[in-house]
This record gives sequence, structure tokens and C-alpha cells, in this order.
Amino acid sequence: MTQFDQESIYQQAKEWVLEAGAIIRSSIDQPREVDTKENANDLVTEMDKQTEEYFAKAIRSTYQEHRILSEEGFGDDVQDLDGVVWIIDPIDGTMNFVHQKQTFAISLAVFCDGVGEIGFVYDVMADCLYHAKKGQGAYKNEKKLDPLPESKTLEESLLMLNTIWCTPNKKVADEPIRDLVQTVRGTRSYGSAALEFCYLAEGIVDSYISFKLQPWDIAAGVVIFKEVGGVTSQTTGERLTFLHQDPIVSAHPNLINAISDYIELKYLI
Ligand code: IPD
Ligand code: CA
Ligand code: CA
Ligand code: CA
Repeated sequence: MTQFDQESIYQQAKEWVLEAGAIIRSSIDQPREVDTKENANDLVTEMDKQTEEYFAKAIRSTYQEHRILSEEGFGDDVQDLDGVVWIIDPIDGTMNFVHQKQTFAISLAVFCDGVGEIGFVYDVMADCLYHAKKGQGAYKNEKKLDPLPESKTLEESLLMLNTIWCTPNKKVADEPIRDLVQTVRGTRSYGSAALEFCYLAEGIVDSYISFKLQPWDIAAGVVIFKEVGGVTSQTTGERLTFLHQDPIVSAHPNLINAISDYIELKYLI
């Protein structure tokens, strides 16, 4: 079993997250170099890369034996979760970062032997830090978040999803998703998966579905949401891999069953 000093790694990671966030905040109005990746809407900026490089250098100089799984290419070629692995999205919500200059986050998780030990999601412009250590509850800044209350029914609940999943697409049958959207009280879409997990943890939204999230989009949020009793799995019911893209559903444990009637048991293709 790998030795893991949860408290000291948490303190170090927190310092780096706040520092990286302060750098982004102080340059928010500077002109951006915006490139595209897989398609014209898949944006990346110099700040995404610079921030990830900042973490990679800091982690490598402090913890030589740890590995990094991250979005922008400064990490390692991680094929398993043995030992200590930092899972990092330097800016989650790059489209918001570029277009809106708000509602984006640094997402950083630390896993040990496949178990999520530490999660940070930092809403940079709001200077709001969501954080959790496994087994010790989840926090929004200094405030401990309450455990999830009794489950609502689907009809009383708010669902987060990207409306793209209601349109014909290659990944999932869109008709049952539309049925689900018509069943819930309302839908929300915030443009940052990491923050969407934190809104679940705060109890201000009730469920989240997305069909192609990467480990760095979800790792920290899953750690945080789990601490208040939330559940996240693949839409097939399988465990998350935290190694490649997974279709995910995240909610109160009772609500998850109701949702999977729509997206898995009946119709998932
Ligand atoms: C994206 C955001 C977005 C989600 C996309 C992600 P990025 O991350 O989390 O909410 O819908 O699937 O790729 O690219 O801004 O880090
Ligand atoms: Ca991206
Ligand atoms: Ca992301
Ligand atoms: Ca990103």
C-alpha cells in the first residue's frame, strides 16, 4: 500500500490552487491567445497551458514519485491509478473563460491507489474554493456542506445537462433524454463540469448527466460530492474509470435509479 499523508498534501495543493487562481484572476482582462483543438468549439488558451505547466512543475519538484493525469499535455502517460496520481484540469470551462470571464474553475484531485483522497474545485473569479478530504466532509470556503437531504422526486428536481444531448448525436439516443427533460422541474447548464459537481454538493441542483467527460473534468468534483452522500457512476451503472472518457450520471443515490430508467435501462445505445 502506498504511503499517503493526506493533510500535508492537501495543504500544499491548496496553496498551489489559490496561487494559480490568483495569477489567472489578475490577468483576466489581458488579450487571449485562443486556439482550437478537436473542433472549432473546443477552445484552449495560453492560460490553460501556463496553469497546467505551473502545477506540473510544482508537483514534480516536490513529489518526484507522484504522477500527473491532466488535459493539456504537461502530465504523464497515465494508464493505471497505482500510487499517487494528481488529476488536474487547469481551467474547466474554457469556453466560459474566453467568452464570459467567469464561471470557470481549477479542478485538482489527488488519488492514492485508485481512491480519491483530496478534491479542490476553485471558482477563480468568485474566489470560492470547494474542497474535500476523503472521510472528512466537503466545504465551500470555510463552511461545511450539509449531507444531502432526503431525495426529491424527479418531478421536483433540477437536472444539469448540456442541451446538445437532446439533439441527434452519435453517443446516445436523444429521445429518452428529451423525455427526461420533460419530466424534471427544470434544467440548468453552467459550462463547467467541475462546478456542476459542486452545485450538486451544495444541494442547489439535484442531478447531472453528461456522456463524454474526461477524468480531469470529474475527479475533484466526484470526491467533493461523495462527501455529502452523492453518487456518480457511468450511465451503464459501471464504476467510473478515472482513466478515460466516461458517460456519467451523478445525483442523490435514490434519484440516480430514477434517471437510469431513462438513460440506461430503456434506451442507452
Ligand atoms: C469542458 C467543461 C464542459 C463540459 C465539456 C468539458 P473544458 O471542459 O467541463 O462543461 O461540457 O465536456 O470538456 O474543456 O472547458 O476543460
Ligand atoms: Ca478543454
Ligand atoms: Ca474540463
Ligand atoms: Ca480544461
